[in-house]
Amino acid sequence: MKEKIENLRNEAKEKISEIKNMQELQDLKVKYLGKKSELTAMLKSLGTLGAEERPKVGSLVNDVRREIENKLEEAEKHFKEQALAQKLEKEKIDITAPSTKIKRGSKHPINRIIEDIQDLFVSMGYDVVAGPELETDEYCFERLNLPKGHPARDMQDSFYITNEYLLRTQTSSVQARTMIANEDKSPIRMICTGKTYRREDDATHSHQFNQVEGLVIDKKELNVSLADLKGTLEVFVHKMIGANLDLRFRPSYFPFTEPSYEVDVTCFKCQGKGCPLCKKTGWIELLGAGMVHPNVLKMNGYDPEKYSGFAFGTGIDRLAMFRYGITDMRYLYTNDIRFLSQFDRKDEE
Ligand code: PHE
Repeated sequence: MKEKIENLRNEAKEKISEIKNMQELQDLKVKYLGKKSELTAMLKSLGTLGAEERPKVGSLVNDVRREIENKLEEAEKHFKEQALAQKLEKEKIDITAPSTKIKRGSKHPINRIIEDIQDLFVSMGYDVVAGPELETDEYCFERLNLPKGHPARDMQDSFYITNEYLLRTQTSSVQARTMIANEDKSPIRMICTGKTYRREDDATHSHQFNQVEGLVIDKKELNVSLADLKGTLEVFVHKMIGANLDLRFRPSYFPFTEPSYEVDVTCFKCQGKGCPLCKKTGWIELLGAGMVHPNVLKMNGYDPEKYSGFAFGTGIDRLAMFRYGITDMRYLYTNDIRFLSQFDRKDEE
């Protein structure tokens, strides 16, 4: 019996040392320690032994059993550690590896300028007003001193939807809307930024573009003057495109202002020396402006004897072109990601 037990111990030790995986380990566990194992059978058959031999054999069987248990436990621990090490190796995160860059969108250059214009004028006490893009002939033209058949309507090639409705050709329509909406006829200080539409399409014009409109009306005794208009536009241009640009007021014609001016700024490209961009004049045309025409005041409920004011308007796209040196206005509308990504948070840093 003793020999048999010793053999079993040696056999088990050898087998355990050869285990290759958890499955083999489980099999050996069953084989040597399970209910049907030889050791269990031996313990069961102790009763058949003599009184002298029984405790000796009994303790030997238990010793061997414990030894096998220990060996198996050791092997199990080893396999578990190995498995964990493998898992850690496989799932290792290299914190020094370069990360994948998350692409963030950026503001469109036009929206950037619109926000800047609004911030500037709000800081000067203006309201920001909006108006419809699908406009009536009445607000786009008639209330701005441009009756039907007026030759100046040809200045703005329009997209008519019906005889009465058109896509607004200018944000000046919002001047009339603001005056009419202002029922108590109190003073007005407003700007409006928004999309406008005309039938043109070349490098410096697009059929859709953006304008900003400004309107200031106050009591006559406060004497809103051309000097105020000039000062306002100087601040506007200096803040938006360049602090050292000069402004030049050139007499012009708009039906809704009298007197009217076209306002030029020093060519940003050649600093006024003369270059192909400014056609060697040193100036670039930027704004339309003037004192609100008495007819416009009257038609929109303001007594020209009691009130006066100024108005101005300009293309936001032109401002964007000047500020960012963009040569073709159509780039602003084709949504080419290669163009747009150049403005990634550029002036936010
Ligand atoms: N609405 C004019 C244009 O689109 C610009 C302008 C606005 C001129 C306000 C004078 C006063 O050309």
